[in-house]
Amino acid sequence: MRATDIIIKKRDKQTLSQEEINFFVQGFTRGEIPDYQVAAWAMAVLLNGMTAEETTHLTLAMANSGDVLDLSDAVEIAVDKHSTGGVGDKVTLVAEPVVAACGLPVGKMSGRGLGFSGGTLDKMESIPGYRTNLSTEEFLAQLKRSGLVLTGQSGDLAPADGKLYSLRDVTGTVPSTPLIASSVMSKKIAGGAQAIVLDVKIGLGAFMENVEKARELAELMVSIGRLSGRKVVGLLSDMNQPLGHAVGNALEVREAIETLRGGGPEDFREHCLVVAAHMLVAGKKAANLDEAREVASAALADGRAWAKFRELVINQGGDVGFVDEPDRLPLAPVVVEIRAERSGWLAQVHARIVGETSVELGAGRARKEDAIDYGVGILVHRKVGDYLEAGSPIFTVYAANDASAQRAVARLKESLAWNSEETQPLPLFYGVVE
Ligand code: URA
Repeated sequence: MRATDIIIKKRDKQTLSQEEINFFVQGFTRGEIPDYQVAAWAMAVLLNGMTAEETTHLTLAMANSGDVLDLSDAVEIAVDKHSTGGVGDKVTLVAEPVVAACGLPVGKMSGRGLGFSGGTLDKMESIPGYRTNLSTEEFLAQLKRSGLVLTGQSGDLAPADGKLYSLRDVTGTVPSTPLIASSVMSKKIAGGAQAIVLDVKIGLGAFMENVEKARELAELMVSIGRLSGRKVVGLLSDMNQPLGHAVGNALEVREAIETLRGGGPEDFREHCLVVAAHMLVAGKKAANLDEAREVASAALADGRAWAKFRELVINQGGDVGFVDEPDRLPLAPVVVEIRAERSGWLAQVHARIVGETSVELGAGRARKEDAIDYGVGILVHRKVGDYLEAGSPIFTVYAANDASAQRAVARLKESLAWNSEETQPLPLFYGVVE
């Protein structure tokens, strides 16, 4: 078997066998198939798709490319969540401490930024000292001891996804239903999750641009879950505008801290509570969503979730002083405010443009080896459906220098659309796939 033949087969819209998929995944995991062939294959998959069966084989091959954790020793029901990627999506930073504070242990392997979407690992690494490279032994020990882990894929867990993920980020091969489904599900299976809550984002700032495509992705992941003996719930959520106000690594950590301390933007808090409630039901800590929501709200309101987040930072080597005083977190030196050039109802804050602008400011990567600037980003002060007077602030840009700030200002103005008539706010969720 040759990698070239497998690429050609996909290029020519043929179906790959399980044997071919295993050969390809094992080859690139071991470094025997070079990045340029993997990138060509990923582009062929993006253009020509995969059947549900091929996607399941790919998922299992990637899950089995390293260790598959058995968490039964550490938790009764291993529950996890994963987002398909959005702008300002810092839900994990709040939902997971909430759930852990309710007595349901959660150990999560997160990803880095992907295309225009942010990544939980990059966000957490803006806390000086915070380690995202726990070994499998450290992961299990912390989960057992403290009930909350937030780390990256260790070299031993789904390493094939780790490699493919960073290649896709820089080769235009992110928005592919089979590649997203297998990437998400392989990590969750390798991480030992038995029940998984998926936050499937829809809209201008998501890889799935409409509800139909998002539903298709959610159904594919639910069916992969079924075939591999995992229960999966897919929440279809809005990503036409950024979630919350903050976009950019340290800015998002600040917003998550504000929320854990009882403040934070309303849409973001609500989103976190819904995700947490689904996790609590999946983990059998609540009989139904109403009860789960009450339990989750109490953990957020009385400070237990905040205490859990602090414990997480300490456990993973982060300097908790930066979390207690978030003003010490990195913040870029050039700050520029953008104000409304007219009065009216805000009809659009294009999430993808905001996400791309944040990446261009330095919050994400253009090449695999690029370093992140944790302090740059954007605050989005207003939401679709708000009425604004001319001159009121819409964005604050945090940039490393004047030139990049000016580029960001020009780009962000393009993200806006206005209505002269009253405009409805966007919904947070569009449905649930089980
Ligand atoms: N999240 C992942 O883990 N993988 C993707 O491909 C997209 C979002």
